Amino acid sequence: MILPKITGTGSYLPKKIRTNHDLEKMVETSDEWIATRTGIRERRIAGDQETGSDLGIHAAKAAMKEAGVRAQDLELILTATATPDMIFPSTAAFIQHGLDAKNAAAFDLNAVCTGFIFGLSVAEQYIKTGRYKTILLVGTEVMSRIIDWTDRKTCVLFGDGAGAVVIQASEDGSGVLSTHIYTDGSYADFLYAPGFDADKKKGKDHLHGKPNTVHMKGNETFKVAVNFMSKVAREALEKNGVDAQDVDLLIPHQANKRIIDAISKKLSFPPEKVFMNLEKVGNTSAASIPIALDEAVREGRVARGAHVLLVAFGGGLTWGSSLIRW
Ligand code: ACO
Repeated sequence: MILPKITGTGSYLPKKIRTNHDLEKMVETSDEWIATRTGIRERRIAGDQETGSDLGIHAAKAAMKEAGVRAQDLELILTATATPDMIFPSTAAFIQHGLDAKNAAAFDLNAVCTGFIFGLSVAEQYIKTGRYKTILLVGTEVMSRIIDWTDRKTCVLFGDGAGAVVIQASEDGSGVLSTHIYTDGSYADFLYAPGFDADKKKGKDHLHGKPNTVHMKGNETFKVAVNFMSKVAREALEKNGVDAQDVDLLIPHQANKRIIDAISKKLSFPPEKVFMNLEKVGNTSAASIPIALDEAVREGRVARGAHVLLVAFGGGLTWGSSLIRW
């Protein structure tokens, strides 16, 4: 059977670090409050001239190097982002040009923080049907551009960065075993960034607010995040007949340590089997899982044959999971 296999991972973080102590000078908050409530200590901020495609190109090059894939080998470039360089062309088109990947079709998809798993699901279909053999999937975000830096409820949570994977057709039994994706648009007001035509959404006054910035109902989001992520993670295990204790590493979307601790407990995962890097990067939305995956691989925490479970949750609301045999 043909499976989509991740043959290379890469990530890139902008140089500029913004610590919780830096934020203390910008809004009424404290390192103690942020660290206790979220687990985050610092996050990266893109340079003034740096865009999501710039970050994505760096991550993509690292992933391609590891996979031993040349730009002309790529047949499709998928970019998961909620912070595109422009309305159009797509960020994927800028990445395609930056890599000089002339043979690749390229497009963006937006499922906010679940974007990487949605992208994996799209890649899975193209590989399984035999349409493409080599796909680049990039998750990239410059969340700092859509943050209201005067709103302490949201500005402490997010960061910038990019992660990428090369996905290739494999017949050796390893690869993405399944993906599971969901959306419920009735929860749009939990997490949104108005702009564009938001003011024309009749009867949706609750979706208004400062344009182009993140608005969030933190408490409500927290509760549904725990429930939806636990449920969809279990679905991936059941679909593949794999027990939680046979999973070697859980890589959850890096939004909040307390959310991750709660789902780990619900799924009976001990802390040593749960990957977390949010302390240093914050919530990088669609880039969160591929950055974490790349770090886990580089730290030697993903051995050949290991079962890796990915699970995410984001605006939409969207949520999803994927079980991978490495
Ligand atoms: N510093 C200090 N005080 C703060 C801060 C801050 N940065 N932010 C809020 N507070 C205050 C509030 O004003 C409130 O004060 P009040 O009681 O006087 O009104 C108090 O702290 C408690 O606020 P809560 O919102 O109830 O705090 P909570 O414990 O719920 O933590 C948090 C807030 C961290 C946002 C939490 O709800 C959370 O993590 N939710 C999930 C959010 C998330 O992960 N979103 C992204 C997921 S999807 C995606 O990534 C797009």
